[in-house]
Amino acid sequence: MDELYESKMLVEGMRSALMPTYGDYGVVVKRAEGCRLFDIDDNVYLDFLSGVSVVSLGHSNEAVNQAVVEQISNFGHLSNFFLNETTSRLAHRIASFVSSDASDKGKVFFSNSGAEANETAIKLVRRFGGGQRYKIVTCLNSFHGRTMGALAATGQPGKQKPFQPLPPGFVYVEFDNLAQMREAISDPSVAAVMVEIIQGEGGVVDASPGYFEEVERLCKERGILLVVDEVQTGMGRTGRMFAFSHFGLDPDIVTLSKALGNGFPIGATWARTEVANAFMPGDHGSTFGGSPSSCAAALAVFDEIERRDLLRHVVEVSTYLRGKLSELDIVHAVSGMGLLLGLRLKRPVAKEIVTRSLQNGLVLNALSDQILRIAPPLVVSKNEIDEALAVLSKVSSDL
Ligand SMILES: Cc1ncc(COP(=O)(O)O)c(C=O)c1O
Repeated sequence: MDELYESKMLVEGMRSALMPTYGDYGVVVKRAEGCRLFDIDDNVYLDFLSGVSVVSLGHSNEAVNQAVVEQISNFGHLSNFFLNETTSRLAHRIASFVSSDASDKGKVFFSNSGAEANETAIKLVRRFGGGQRYKIVTCLNSFHGRTMGALAATGQPGKQKPFQPLPPGFVYVEFDNLAQMREAISDPSVAAVMVEIIQGEGGVVDASPGYFEEVERLCKERGILLVVDEVQTGMGRTGRMFAFSHFGLDPDIVTLSKALGNGFPIGATWARTEVANAFMPGDHGSTFGGSPSSCAAALAVFDEIERRDLLRHVVEVSTYLRGKLSELDIVHAVSGMGLLLGLRLKRPVAKEIVTRSLQNGLVLNALSDQILRIAPPLVVSKNEIDEALAVLSKVSSDL
């Protein structure tokens, strides 16, 4: 048996007991460290996808690993019938970063993923609305997760169609279209507007200047809750701890996940106190939600972002990366903020670029035929950026 055949058989074997939901790259990873992945054939890859915007501090981050080891050597799981210092400290930490109101820091519910953080937000909106107000306005092309409620919030008919009927009560408007937003929220049964600050999975799409400020003003005017999904944009990815702060917003509910645990599964839903207190004991819960081990990881993530002054680093390297990306011949435009960038290509060759980049040791992601997502770990160095640019330049000029 030749080596290529052997490795193809291995990949097929590995896939065979997994449900076929993912289009994996066919690479078997044996180790990952910092911005690099190492496969079983000793190939090395520069990871410019970060486990889909998750490992912001890089793979196998020492501080995060140590925090988890220390926690699990005391206890890793308790159940929510007990209190523990780690989970409480994280709730306070998130609250102090999210809320700009010194007199109301709000409250947090912990879960295990982005979809669950959004499910929590959806239930909280409904509970706060008290039955009369229940509709949630979301944007077309948005992505809020794949569980039934989060999928109903996701404004992508193609993703919803095979799973109908979905929970009712969602209204969709075009992203960045204030006229449609005004019209939708004039319905008195609307309880909330739910938005991403950058539509991540939808193609790294930005809104026009002034859009979010006006959406917030309209929500406040009509007593409608503003829910911001920071699952992908949160924890420093855009150069601020949360992307909504670029626009000075003051949301009622904020959802987090992905980079919060740098790879340890955790979701969090923050709400201002009046809204959070709509939940009664027994209304919502999660066996693993608030797991001390994942909360220990997330506390270390906050510490590391501060200790390494990563927000400043993101702004610096983003300016450099963005400038260089926009000089590439194949690139029509660059969207996004910080280290969540979208490359709009002149031709529909995104998937080909991903395949060829991978063969040349660079991990990228195609969001469509013509859009690439660039989301390296926040700790990426200028040298690593130059390395990635050299691969991108080479593979795109060959096409
Ligand atoms: C903005 C946003 N919300 C929610 C989700 C769902 O997160 P998860 O895959 O952890 O359920 C994602 C995932 O990509 C996302 O980008």
